[in-house]
Amino acid sequence: MRFQQKYYTPAHTRRTAPAEGARQTKTFLLGRKRLELRRNPGTPRGARTVLYPYVAKPLFFKMDPEKAHHLVVGGLAKTGGVPGGSSALRLMYGVPETPELAVDLFGLHFPSPVGLAAGLDKNAQAVEGFSSIGFGFMEVGTVTPRPQPGNEQPRLFRLPEDEALINRMGFNNEGAAAMAGRLKKARRRIPVAVNIGRNKTTPNEAAHDDYRECIRTLYPYGDFFVVNISSPNTPGLRSLQHGEELAALLAGVREEMELQRDKSGRLKSLLVKIAPDLSSEELEGIVHTLTEARVDGVIATNTTISREGLTHRHAGETGGLSGRPLAKRSTEIISAIYRQTGGRLPIIGSGGIFTARDAYDKIRAGASLVEIYTALIYEGPEVNRRLHAGLRNLLRRDGFGHISEAVGADHR
Ligand SMILES: Cc1cc2nc3c(=O)[nH]c(=O)nc-3n(C[C@H](O)[C@H](O)[C@H](O)COP(=O)(O)O)c2cc1C
Repeated sequence: MRFQQKYYTPAHTRRTAPAEGARQTKTFLLGRKRLELRRNPGTPRGARTVLYPYVAKPLFFKMDPEKAHHLVVGGLAKTGGVPGGSSALRLMYGVPETPELAVDLFGLHFPSPVGLAAGLDKNAQAVEGFSSIGFGFMEVGTVTPRPQPGNEQPRLFRLPEDEALINRMGFNNEGAAAMAGRLKKARRRIPVAVNIGRNKTTPNEAAHDDYRECIRTLYPYGDFFVVNISSPNTPGLRSLQHGEELAALLAGVREEMELQRDKSGRLKSLLVKIAPDLSSEELEGIVHTLTEARVDGVIATNTTISREGLTHRHAGETGGLSGRPLAKRSTEIISAIYRQTGGRLPIIGSGGIFTARDAYDKIRAGASLVEIYTALIYEGPEVNRRLHAGLRNLLRRDGFGHISEAVGADHR
């Protein structure tokens, strides 16, 4: 599947950095008030660069985090859904596709290596909107077979000093059938992965039934599938990552994928998302089982239960920690998987990516693609352009002609 460059690349929106010494401050009149906005030197110009940091973020950060979240997803769903809405978003935040950063993997074409991680668009409400703001792919979900409300609120916390979030959402979602209905109608510009989980009330012994039901309902609509067994917010879920339980689960899930492949005549990839809180022995065991089960790739990692190095008063909240404090640990996990498999198991890196350097560290450690969540909340959609431009510079600096040459470079 190729995504046409004309849709993805608003070439006329490319801008160059201002000449040195150029005015970096803009003055706006708000009624009688003068508002002076100072831009960080070196960042690109335009309304889009002021909109999030100076207007949207201060508003969102005054609100309850979950309300702000719904506003973002709802806003993108509405904008992406009206005529001209997606084009406007692409004009503002689209990222030019560049051959050195485009990735072909899992039989799919990824126009950029940076995707949207699972959990933001849990119900696939804003696929068109998220597809238009510079991501190279996105995950929807985690979805469970039956709708469920998730944990009691409040269940999402910001830790700005730590550039982190703690969440204990608990797979709040509208269920697989509702997601299928939405994905059926959504226009695709980038690969969309469906991230699947089990309902809270389903015991681990029957978990395979839940994963299989999600695959049955959603197989025609996902470009690839992610088995989530690493959320800390569904009691007992993470024990599915180990030993016989994992082997049995994956055998069932693999069987369902093959049944659906035969039925539809379309081969789709299966990935597993793992936690960062694993000992080296546990990780080695998991990777061995994943390879034996012939899964197509791994997402490393989900949020952590560690609270190391946090300073914010919300540090004591229960749940999964994402953002900056997770960056190092998730990169270590990527590195270990790459080493163990000799680079034969494709890895999607997730955890604490804010800058191109963070993304590049994960790529050099062994990730073929990366994805972000928390950085989008703190930096806004402009983050995709920065990551893209920074990655191109880093590749050139190291003499790589294509991103695939940098994958696992630290091991050579
Ligand atoms: C509020 C919130 C909800 C999340 N929900 C899910 C989810 O439903 N399924 C999942 O696999 N990961 C979920 N995640 C984890 C992210 O997909 C991602 O792996 C993790 O946040 C690390 O990336 P980051 O540091 O860039 O945020 C969630 C993260 C956050 C912050």
